[in-house]
Amino acid sequence: MPDVSPRKILIDTDPGIDDAMAIFYALASPELDVVGLTTIFGNAPTDLATVNALRLLEIAGRTDIPVAKGAARPLAMPFRGPADFVHGVDAQGDTFLPPPTTAAVGVDAARFIIDTVMAAPGEITLVPIGPLTNIALALILEPDLPRHLAGIALMGGAVFVPGNASPAAEANVINDPEAADIVFGADCPLAMCGLDVTEKTIMPADTLGRIGTFDNAEARHIARIVPFYLEFYRQRAGLDGIPIHDSSVISYLIAPELYTTASHPIRVDTAHGVCRGKTLAATRLADHENPWSGRRDVTICTGVDAAGAIELELSRLA
Ligand code: RIB
Ligand code: CA
Repeated sequence: MPDVSPRKILIDTDPGIDDAMAIFYALASPELDVVGLTTIFGNAPTDLATVNALRLLEIAGRTDIPVAKGAARPLAMPFRGPADFVHGVDAQGDTFLPPPTTAAVGVDAARFIIDTVMAAPGEITLVPIGPLTNIALALILEPDLPRHLAGIALMGGAVFVPGNASPAAEANVINDPEAADIVFGADCPLAMCGLDVTEKTIMPADTLGRIGTFDNAEARHIARIVPFYLEFYRQRAGLDGIPIHDSSVISYLIAPELYTTASHPIRVDTAHGVCRGKTLAATRLADHENPWSGRRDVTICTGVDAAGAIELELSRLA
């Protein structure tokens, strides 16, 4: 009998409008078992990200899923500040939800990640969809962690396309390049859904409108928060739709056949120059030892059946 048990995932998130979509999408997918949420600064400071994670689980009726609060700042620099211009001052499209009635667990995110992984060796896939500080801290605190992971599948970076937070860097990576470089060096299976595919996966405004017709609390919440996000992309990029960033990694986990990939080791530029936060893949064989030597290949998503990924997400949100 083939193993049909759902894949256990732990989502590290900075919710965030597209994070909310990704979390609801994962919760609605029988292929995945969300065993916890850990929170991180990014779209919002960590305190607000934690409140939002709790609110989202309440909306989904999944308060059985633990939330662990993560680091308040990057490893080696101050927090650059929230992306309130993209996600609203509450990071949920200025919808100002009531406070959650639930609370985060009493351990911090890095410890929660380590404990959860070690309690189920080989079973957990980490799914970071925000800056990578918590994952890096867990790897520093427990160097043996990669051996006990099923893998890491993350949204972040931009290998063959420009960045969105700078010409060089994607937002999640620029928010903690030192952490990202540690995570891309983890000795476990690692897949990356970066801007190479997320900016090719555009959900048009009229398709977004369909979500508002779905008869469930999660879809109703998305329909309330997404107009703020859509407006940002209309103003900033002249786009009548939204790029599917965080949900792309959920689609990749459920339906990897929708993606084409390349395999190369990755380093992150941690210098304080114009390319800080750039994810650099070693695409050629090297004749000499270099900073990529000894790193495992990362499975880099480079192409996507965008219509297929969007329809898959919509079918689950429905
Ligand atoms: O660059 C896209 C990423 O930045 C997404 O994770 C989004 O939520 C923002 O944090
Ligand atoms: Ca995010």
